[in-house]
Amino acid sequence: MSSNAMRVLVIGSGGREHAIVRACLRSSLVGEVLAAPGNGGMARDVRCVQVDIMNPEAVLALVREAEVDFVIVGPEAPLSIGLVDALESAGVLAYGTNQAATRLEASKAYCKDFLQRHGIPTAAYASFTEIDPALTYLKQCRYPVVVKASGLAAGKGVIIAQDEPEAVASVRGMLDGTLFGESGREVVVESFLEGEEASIMLMVCRDRYVALPPSQDHKRVGEGDSGPNTGGMGAYAPAAVVDETVQRRIREEIIEPTLAGLRCDGIDYRGTLYIGIMITDSGPQVVEFNTRFGDPELQVLLPLCETDPVGVMLACARGTLDGVELHVREGAAIVVVLAATGYPGEYERGESIELPDALPENVEIVHAGTQLDDGGTLRSAGGRVLGVTAFAPTLKEAAARAYAVCEQIRWPGKYYRRDIGVRQLTRERCG
Ligand code: AMP
Ligand code: GLY
Repeated sequence: MSSNAMRVLVIGSGGREHAIVRACLRSSLVGEVLAAPGNGGMARDVRCVQVDIMNPEAVLALVREAEVDFVIVGPEAPLSIGLVDALESAGVLAYGTNQAATRLEASKAYCKDFLQRHGIPTAAYASFTEIDPALTYLKQCRYPVVVKASGLAAGKGVIIAQDEPEAVASVRGMLDGTLFGESGREVVVESFLEGEEASIMLMVCRDRYVALPPSQDHKRVGEGDSGPNTGGMGAYAPAAVVDETVQRRIREEIIEPTLAGLRCDGIDYRGTLYIGIMITDSGPQVVEFNTRFGDPELQVLLPLCETDPVGVMLACARGTLDGVELHVREGAAIVVVLAATGYPGEYERGESIELPDALPENVEIVHAGTQLDDGGTLRSAGGRVLGVTAFAPTLKEAAARAYAVCEQIRWPGKYYRRDIGVRQLTRERCG
C-alpha cells in the first residue's frame, strides 16, 4: 500500500455495503479494506470482522486495533444509535449521518413535521400514538390512505389501506405492537399520492452537496409491481422520468429548502440524503427521506461514477466538499436482485449457491444475504441474496447482460423479477 493510502472499514452486511467495498477496492485513495460484519461475498474480497455494529464501543475497539483511518457506515440502524457521533468524538473520520440527522429516517413523524415546517411538498398527514384520535381522523379521510409505522421497518412498515375498516385495522395493529413491534408505536397516516416514484441521492456536507444520477427502484416483490413491498427487487439509473424540468423543481422546491431547514434546525448534516420522490401531476413530492444510500439503488449508481466516490465521502466527512464535483459516465446501469423464494415472508436459508466462473465485462455479482460455510461453500443467508449489476451504453443492453448472468446462477430457491427497468424500456421504445 502506498504510504498515504488509507485503511477503510465498511460497516454493514448487505448488497449496498458489498458495492461500497468494491468501490473502495477500486479507489486509489484506499490501501486496505475491512468489513464488519460483512457477508459471504465480502469475505471473498476483503477481511471481515465479526463485531456488533450496534455497539459503538466494540466498533471503536476494532478501529483502534486495526488502525483504521476512515469508517463508512452503510445501514440506518447503527447511524440511528449514534455510531458516527461516537466515532467522531473519538477523533475517527467517518462517513454517515449523526444521530440527530438520522432522525429524518428513524422517525417518519419527525420527518413529516420537518417537511411541513419548512414548506417542502409532501402528502397531507397526521401522526398518532393513541387509537381514539386516529379513529376520529380516519372517519374524515378520503380513501385510499397510507398508514406507516413511524420507526425503522426496513422499508416494509407501510400499508396502503383501501377503505376505513382496513385503515382502522392497520392503525390498531401498529399501535398495539402486533404488526411492526416498537416501530409502530407511533403511526403516520397520509394521503395517497398518484404518480411515478424515483430516488434522488445526495452526498451532503452541510449546505454543499453533490447529486448522484436519479434512479428507480422496484419495491414490490412481483412483476408488474404486484405483491407486498420489499427492501427493493431491482433498480436502474439514470431514470429518465426525472427529466430536466423535474430535476429543477426537485432542486428548488425540495433540496434547497431541505438543506436550509436543516441549517435552521441546527443539524450538522454530513452523509447521504436519499429522497424518495413521487412525481405527481402537481409536481415532485417527498415520500420519504433516508439518511443512507439506497439498497439496491447504490449498486447502479457506483458504476456510473467517473469521480471516485470514496473521495467524495471523505470530503463530506472532513467538511471539505467545496469545489468537489461528481462526474458521471454516459450509459446506463441495472441491478436485478435475486431473492429467496417466499421473501418478504418466510423463506429457506442455508441453500448452496453456485456462481458462474467468469463474468462478462461490466457485469458484477454483488452479495447481500450470503455466507461462506466452514468448507468455503457459498450459502444463502437472507431474503435478498444476490444482485447482478450491469453497465452498458443503453439500458436494454445492460438488462440483457444482467439477465443472462441471473440465469446462470444456480440455487434451489432463486427468485427474481424479470421486468426490472421495463417502464423506462417501454418509454424508450415508444419515444
Ligand atoms: P416509505 O417507507 O415511506 O418510502 O414507503 C414505502 C413505499 O410505499 C413507497 O416507496 C411508496 O411506493 C409507497 N408509499 C409511501 N407513501 C405513499 C403515499 N403517500 N402515496 C402513495 N404511495 C406511497
Ligand atoms: N431501496 C429502497 C431503500 O433503500 O430504501
